[in-house]
Amino acid sequence: MTRIIAIANHKGGVGKTTTAINLSSALAHFSRKVLIVDIDPQANTTRGLGFDPSLTSKSIFEVLDGSVDINSVLKKTAIKDLTLLPSKIFVSPINEFVNNSEEDPYYRLKKAFSSLKKTYDYIIIDCPPSLGFLTVNALVSANTILVPVQCEYFAMDAINSMLGTISRIQSQYNPDLGIEGFLMTMYDAKTSLGTQISSQVRSLFKENTFLTQIPRNVSIPESNLRGLPVTVYRPTSSGSLAYYSLAKEVMDKENQ
Ligand SMILES: Nc1ncnc2c1ncn2[C@@H]1O[C@H](COP(=O)(O)OP(=O)(O)O)[C@@H](O)[C@H]1O
Ligand SMILES: [Mg+2]
Repeated sequence: MTRIIAIANHKGGVGKTTTAINLSSALAHFSRKVLIVDIDPQANTTRGLGFDPSLTSKSIFEVLDGSVDINSVLKKTAIKDLTLLPSKIFVSPINEFVNNSEEDPYYRLKKAFSSLKKTYDYIIIDCPPSLGFLTVNALVSANTILVPVQCEYFAMDAINSMLGTISRIQSQYNPDLGIEGFLMTMYDAKTSLGTQISSQVRSLFKENTFLTQIPRNVSIPESNLRGLPVTVYRPTSSGSLAYYSLAKEVMDKENQ
């Protein structure tokens, strides 16, 4: 059965895109068939996998407005077993989707997934930072949400705000939406702030926090510039090893 995981947090710059790319690539490394969906108009996942979003004609947005079939938009990546549903830099207001729609517009991604011809073990969705039409579509289609949390002062605010969002989505659209986990990102063991925040989150949300934490690692921004996952660019870097470890934690739930 396909597991659909949405990577979301209202805050920007917390490691959503980095996690989407590297969790997907690590799962593919372990021979899982993975579809990564870039639903962010900033198109950083698309770029981070080596594609130029300004050259993308058909994207997730044409899938959502119903003008193309999802199967015709998929791109093979340089990584075996990893397929991309690309984004592109989006200029028209997203509200057009909602205003022109007669049916409930929040189920469009879920419907598109149901017409995929190939079967995937995982679908990983990289969400934009705001809770609008796009993120709601992602959370309505997902089995679980994975929340990257940056190890910084306002980490608890971010978590509380995401818990509010999760319960709203559960009550309005997707009662089965589960929490895949909170993932501490950009962790720096050398600062007391990093360790304090991480242990505070862990003590409050033990069951829902991944044991793996992603260290701050310079190979990660470097890999973005190369258009490669860090797991491919620097397979033995601390960032890469952490994402392999995260993938193992995610795969551990396969038989539950
Ligand atoms: N573990 C990390 N170590 C160092 N830099 C990181 C790490 N994770 C992300 N970054 C960098 O931080 C920036 C924001 O990360 P990104 O994944 O794009 O966040 P988001 O998608 O939540 O906006 C990017 O420049 C990325 O390269
Ligand atoms: Mg992003």
